[in-house]
Amino acid sequence: MALGRCPQCGSWDSVVEEVIPGSSSTKTPKIRGISAMSRPRKITEIKGDFEERLDLPIKEFARVLGGGVVPGSVVLVGGDPGIGKSTLLLQLAIQMAHDRKVLYVSGEESERQIKMRAVRLSAFDDQESKNMPDGLFLVTETNLDMIMEHIRELTPDILVVDSIQTMYLDHLESTPGSVSQVRESASRLRELAKASGVAVFLIGHVTKEGVIAGPRVLEHIVDTVLYLEGDRFQTFRLLRSVKNRFGATSEVGVFEMRESGMIEVKNPSEAFLAERLVNAPGSAIAVTMEGTRPLLVEIQGLTTHSSLNNPRRTPNGVDFNRLLLTVAVLTRRLRLKLTEQDVFVNVVSGLKISEPAADLAIAAAICSSMQDKPVKADTILIGEIGLSGELRWVGHMTARLNEAQKLGFKTAVIPKRVRKGEVLPDEMVVKEARSLREALSIALL
Ligand SMILES: Nc1ncnc2c1ncn2[C@@H]1O[C@H](COP(=O)(O)OP(=O)(O)OP(=O)(O)O)[C@@H](O)[C@H]1O
Ligand SMILES: [Mg+2]
Repeated sequence: MALGRCPQCGSWDSVVEEVIPGSSSTKTPKIRGISAMSRPRKITEIKGDFEERLDLPIKEFARVLGGGVVPGSVVLVGGDPGIGKSTLLLQLAIQMAHDRKVLYVSGEESERQIKMRAVRLSAFDDQESKNMPDGLFLVTETNLDMIMEHIRELTPDILVVDSIQTMYLDHLESTPGSVSQVRESASRLRELAKASGVAVFLIGHVTKEGVIAGPRVLEHIVDTVLYLEGDRFQTFRLLRSVKNRFGATSEVGVFEMRESGMIEVKNPSEAFLAERLVNAPGSAIAVTMEGTRPLLVEIQGLTTHSSLNNPRRTPNGVDFNRLLLTVAVLTRRLRLKLTEQDVFVNVVSGLKISEPAADLAIAAAICSSMQDKPVKADTILIGEIGLSGELRWVGHMTARLNEAQKLGFKTAVIPKRVRKGEVLPDEMVVKEARSLREALSIALL
């Protein structure tokens, strides 16, 4: 059936056809007999090591998962084409296979091609891993029944499936990548994971709307959903957790994409600020929280005279609406003549900031460009801007300031404290401002 518009949510082109398999292939009986497999058990009867997680040699990866991967869990790693999903998981597979058994199933590349990549990745390794580990098994296969057979035979500790959209089950009529194939394949792998304890990593392609495999089918089936994101033209990649049954979400791991693969960035703030031009107008430093981790990022603003009736507002890495709000407040409350200016804002590093805590730095970058006055080089700015031009307090102030201090920043401009509960670092000059105007007069040279 062709249906242009969804009658429920009103969005266009979002309806996908799903072929319902005939009743002969429906495996679950409606009512189970007495001999049903499941049986309620007392919680005290359930034995085992409940803290057990497999440690991952890639620490940034482990951090995003909440300290390691839980055996029997299914982790989905999604991301745009070419962002580095296969690279990251092959690296993980190689490193884990030194002391565990890993099966890497690919529906996209031949075994030779995978080995070629593996050789390239480990050529740069300075450890003993130059020799390929014995515990790593590769197979190019898309038939899920065959894959299940391999898993039963090989009993790996870790399974990587690249990608779930290429897998298919014979008894379903639809093509690989369709909603029913993807959902059924993932459900089968989940059942297998729970029963055998193998930790499964699924690679998933993201559609252009940012959805993994259609209308969020996969997100519900798996335990953990990670997104690998980043600007294609930049080298930084962020691994972000958006759902995690076994750990906190919104943690992020930071990597750099090099020829040698995905290199962990141990000190992201330092890396993000590495190319900053000190004392250049139009640049301000914000401290944003990514999960529990504070990150310092440079925000650049540029204003140029516009010949358009509706001057451009171009955000790159910041939320469009927050940019509009900031420009509106700068125009009304500080009387900046932005109505005749095109305004560009860019977050250096390719990071996407959604936090209002970066408002003040965005405003400072724009104002600094407009007035051609640099922001003081050793100063960071933190705070949310309200519609009256007032500054609002944001959470995690201590963590943010500590990170800035570690990187050598001497001054912080923050909103006026309402409660004095937060401990602020001693070695930093912390200047509290009530309004955007006051904050900018402190921060700009
Ligand atoms: N020889 C090479 N040297 C340096 N970088 C390379 C090399 N080969 C590939 N790359 C990088 O690896 C990226 C591809 O990574 P990868 O194949 O892991 O992405 P992916 O997310 O799995 O993509 P897809 O969704 O298409 O499978 C390329 O964009 C390229 O930047
Ligand atoms: Mg790939």
